[in-house]
Amino acid sequence: MTADRLSFFDTTLRDGEQSPGCSMSIAEKLHMAHALDALGVDILEGGFAIASEGDSQALEAISREIRRPTIASLARARREDIESAARALESARRSRIHIFLASSDIHLKHKLKISRDEALENADSSVRLARGLVDEVEFSPEDATRTDPDFLSQMVAVAVAAGATIINLPDTVGYCLPQEYGAMFEMLRKRLPQLEGITLSAHCHDDLGMAVANSLAAIAAGARQVECTINGIGERAGNAALEEVAAALLVRGDCFPCSHGLVLERLYPTSQVLSEVISFGPSPNKAVVGSNAFAHEAGIHQHGVLANPLTYEIMTPASVGVPHNRMVMGKHSGRHALAHRLQQLGYSLDAADLDIAYHRFSELADRKKSIFDQDLLALVPERLRRFSAETDAAVATTSRA
Ligand code: KIV
Ligand code: ZN
Repeated sequence: MTADRLSFFDTTLRDGEQSPGCSMSIAEKLHMAHALDALGVDILEGGFAIASEGDSQALEAISREIRRPTIASLARARREDIESAARALESARRSRIHIFLASSDIHLKHKLKISRDEALENADSSVRLARGLVDEVEFSPEDATRTDPDFLSQMVAVAVAAGATIINLPDTVGYCLPQEYGAMFEMLRKRLPQLEGITLSAHCHDDLGMAVANSLAAIAAGARQVECTINGIGERAGNAALEEVAAALLVRGDCFPCSHGLVLERLYPTSQVLSEVISFGPSPNKAVVGSNAFAHEAGIHQHGVLANPLTYEIMTPASVGVPHNRMVMGKHSGRHALAHRLQQLGYSLDAADLDIAYHRFSELADRKKSIFDQDLLALVPERLRRFSAETDAAVATTSRA
């Protein structure tokens, strides 16, 4: 297989913003859009123009200021949504309307209360309308993964015939397993030869914790656009986390012959920008960008990482923009890590003194959850200690490192 180009479609400012506690002001969206631009995303979904005046204004501002990526607005398959999206995108260098329309019977019957035929008509007319107003049209059969495959094929065929050039197959409710999600892409490609030249896109939710695995399965099955959010924020359990998909492509490039345009060193800084904007960050154990993602406490691990980081790290912190790995001193830490940290703090202990310090350390670690550098300094045998401005400066510098 040749190395195809995979496009990263970021929906932090749309699907991500739809999650509780994640709403952003226009200025915050713009600030975040600049960070996403620097990260190198290909398509930036800035909002859902008709949903609010704020979203519409944010899309206008993003379209004016962010010139490299394609700017997208979500729209239902309705004239008013599509016209509102087109107006908000007028200044974009390259514009995309992303139309979604439910395709599963459960959504058609209980939510939209329309027949399958009516849905096909709406898909056709909305894509035709949008095609004349922006540079490109993306079509999403919402709840694709719970849609009858025959009807899904029919709806996709209608959208393509009407002019959609990107077909997104959302796992709207996070229901799919990776092998099923990949198979859906293969099934459609087999059934519909007209998909040759059309970009297929993955959009996964994390209700069963499989959003990233499903996205990767889709890429392996031929998807060449992946829709993600920073820190995995999004409806309910969230969307596929962009940083995790990108890291998987970095570490397991052997399985995914795709190139992309992300600046991987911007992953962590972008995650930090989002955490600041929405006032909450990822959980500490979150892959790639969580505070523990490159932290080691267990003695055996610390010893290994000090000898060679490859023992317990599958990517370097620097490769994803994390400034350093972190040796956390706690009850699982060993002598090597203690000696290393004390050395960083200015104390090279011989074996006997290290024995004393380590004994004190073990006692302390049993009592105390968080052990700080000042605690460690107090473990050094008294005759060696030199508490001074110099030591305080060493603590301050190495704590920041
Ligand atoms: O999850 C979903 O189905 C969506 C669509 C609007 C693409 O977010
Ligand atoms: Zn979604």
